[in-house]
Amino acid sequence: MTPSLSRSPAWHKLLAHRDDLGGKTARELWRADPARGSKLTVGCASLALDFSKQPATEETLALLCALARERGLVESIEALFSGAIVNTTEKRPALHMALRGDEHTRAGGHDVMPEIQRGRERLRMFSQGVREGHWKGATGQAIRHVVGLGIGGSSLGPKLAAKALHAMADGPEAHFIENLDSAEFEDTVARLDPAATLFVIASKTFTTEETLANAASARAWIERSLGAGAVERHFVAATAAPGRATAWGLPACNVFAFPEWVGGRFSLWSEVGLPVAIAVGMAAFDRLLAGAHAVDLEFRSRPLEKNAPALLALLSVWNRNALGCASHVVLPYAARLSGLPPYVQALEMESNGKRVDRDGAALDFSTAPAVLGSEGTPGQHAFHQWLHQGTDPVSADFIVVATPMGSDADRHARLVAHAAAQSEALMNGVETPEPWRSCPGGRSSTTIVMPALDPHHLGSLLALYEHKVFAEGALWGINSFDQWGVELGKKIAGSILPAARGEGTAPDAATAHLLGVIHKLAQSS
Ligand code: F6P
Repeated sequence: MTPSLSRSPAWHKLLAHRDDLGGKTARELWRADPARGSKLTVGCASLALDFSKQPATEETLALLCALARERGLVESIEALFSGAIVNTTEKRPALHMALRGDEHTRAGGHDVMPEIQRGRERLRMFSQGVREGHWKGATGQAIRHVVGLGIGGSSLGPKLAAKALHAMADGPEAHFIENLDSAEFEDTVARLDPAATLFVIASKTFTTEETLANAASARAWIERSLGAGAVERHFVAATAAPGRATAWGLPACNVFAFPEWVGGRFSLWSEVGLPVAIAVGMAAFDRLLAGAHAVDLEFRSRPLEKNAPALLALLSVWNRNALGCASHVVLPYAARLSGLPPYVQALEMESNGKRVDRDGAALDFSTAPAVLGSEGTPGQHAFHQWLHQGTDPVSADFIVVATPMGSDADRHARLVAHAAAQSEALMNGVETPEPWRSCPGGRSSTTIVMPALDPHHLGSLLALYEHKVFAEGALWGINSFDQWGVELGKKIAGSILPAARGEGTAPDAATAHLLGVIHKLAQSS
């Protein structure tokens, strides 16, 4: 059982330290120690993390590291990397790191590396074949569009990476369809030529309703214009359930299987990344893996005091549990990183949105904050007002790319100025005679600086977040690798589907009422 924070000596020391700081903001801490910038900036592979706008000192970090040691973070990291059963409810290891490295790792008593290398080789051959036009559609045309059909972890990562790396994409154009709403499918394929389109059905379980509905629509769309025989030239699958993919109608050679120990939200690095490999090429995909691997090596080996993912997690615990931040915003100042906030949201909230520990005992402290965000600068004109003058404490991550992504260097300088200005304003606030103009400041933020938006640094950024979320889960004592909470709604949706179709009544009175309102409006419009 995870010891309650309230019974942790290290936590009590942290709370006493918080009280000693007496609510000092990072602005006041900067005044007291003008050298804190370099003391509180940590490297991570080739990223830099500036923690100096956190209401924390070197002593805070030392006390947080003591908490981490008391709660066994170092041992948890080693257990993760050595293939221990960290996903206790599903009795599996979580070895996504093995997909991007070359270390021999054992799972279930055998070395997983030969299987990984075979998978990577198949990915290389297939993506190259599609890109070079050797893999042709049923009418002999080369593929110009690759469409990922998946949802959640089977879509958010590839969608984010494909957009982030769009500038270097020289293969078929990548698209993604996730929603059960058929309008998304129809809007997307309206722009595509079936003869030149390849669908990648990405589903770990191959049972997910949304993905199977989109796959069925895609099959009907292909068959309508190219005939039933065309399916095997226009569909492949990435899945941990290859038998279900072949039962769906795919030849075994179109199925790219990956192991059960790859968690859905950690699956970009596996065969699920196929649309990205096709769009940008396997050499770039290899660089994405290498960038993530560089962070894996540091997370496993660095002392906590210099371990960026661990420090990011510890400061999250500081903000969440000591300073009461129930929300956290992710703010990439890069148009092409618009997929990052939803990706981090799923990673954090599906992994750590839990209320019991690994043994099922109720936790008596808060876990994952609500994660939201969007790319800067558009977010400034949407929800930053709430960040600056809202009533509740909130923490933030800014992500800044040091070199221009577009062709206009001056516009990039202006973008950087806005990112820095927002974090400065959140830290310092402003006091004016008119209360409606005043901003309290004192908001915690970390700025993550990437040298460039390229495959290697993107891989590092995503691995940084993965390990941050794992370390938080370890500190809170929860299993970050399951997501049982999403099952209930799926079950209810299945049971009320007849009523939603207008056949019978839903058993729950409130739901029956709501369906009645919806049906009435449908009839009158
Ligand atoms: O419902 C949530 C979830 O289970 C995610 O964890 C997962 O990434 C997503 O659905 C899709 O699942 P699958 O890859 O099995 O289709």
